[in-house]
Amino acid sequence: MLKGKDILSGPQFNAQELNLIMNTAANYEKRVKAGEVIRDMEGMVVATLFFEPSTRTRLSFEAAANRVGARVISMAGARASSQAKGETMLDTIKTVDGYVDVIVMRHPEKGSAQRAAEVAVHPVINGGDGAGQHPTQALLDIYTIRKEKGFLGGHTVTLLGDLKYGRTVHSLSYFLALYQNKMIFASPKALKMPEEITADLRSRGAEIEETEDVAAALAKSDIVYVTRVQRERFDDPAEYERLKGSYIMNNELLKKAKPGITILHPLPRVDEIAEEVDDYPGAAYFRQAHNGMYIRMALLALVTGRA
Ligand code: NCD
Repeated sequence: MLKGKDILSGPQFNAQELNLIMNTAANYEKRVKAGEVIRDMEGMVVATLFFEPSTRTRLSFEAAANRVGARVISMAGARASSQAKGETMLDTIKTVDGYVDVIVMRHPEKGSAQRAAEVAVHPVINGGDGAGQHPTQALLDIYTIRKEKGFLGGHTVTLLGDLKYGRTVHSLSYFLALYQNKMIFASPKALKMPEEITADLRSRGAEIEETEDVAAALAKSDIVYVTRVQRERFDDPAEYERLKGSYIMNNELLKKAKPGITILHPLPRVDEIAEEVDDYPGAAYFRQAHNGMYIRMALLALVTGRA
């Protein structure tokens, strides 16, 4: 179903494909935990091209590639590559496409992965395109919800924080809508979910409430997905300074939340979740990051036809 396909955005997926990816990931998780040496992608090479900083996305893709039996070549940081000589992103893609079986990339420009996919023969997986989309993060987010809650639909989910520039929520909101979750978009006015996304989601039947009242949102939510204010996307540093710290998930706020609430965050966090919250049993963000490896094993093997 996904062989040869690019993984570019949230809205590209239907529920059948999401189920396939999550079930494939669950199977890999079982095999890894059983100590199996997996060779499904033996003989294949994966490229990770990161034109923008990353910790989890790149390392979990590389761990995933290794664990599924592929080899990896990597470009982390444009400074050490011909980008520094002025080579365009598309020329780099065309070159690397001739070396490998699948390309994982991250780039600061919205739409960059789409453009790369248009010139590459091999599947392109978007590891984040500016303030655009981040579908592989959103896939591991719903996989985590399924594991933490036992099922994936019918929850009330608050997406909290920088919904304007945060690309993970631009992808995740589509998946949550597909499984009939109710969404509350909680953010400062200046960081609201882009209107075209909210309108598109509503036209697909999503139930969405928008608010600035974080405590009220949390009081009725089964899950809260906290995001970082995306400093690197602000033209005006003063505007970032004004908005940072405008919401902080701490034990005080947690007391006002619905009992049993699950707390997710794509990480890295800056100060929007206090460390004291880490001891709360529903704080799932590090388990969430771990789940990313299994989702990425599944994606690599599925798009190369080896799963
Ligand atoms: C996210 C990203 O890069 O968009 N990080 C990640 O991939 N886990 C979230 C963020 O940087 O805030």
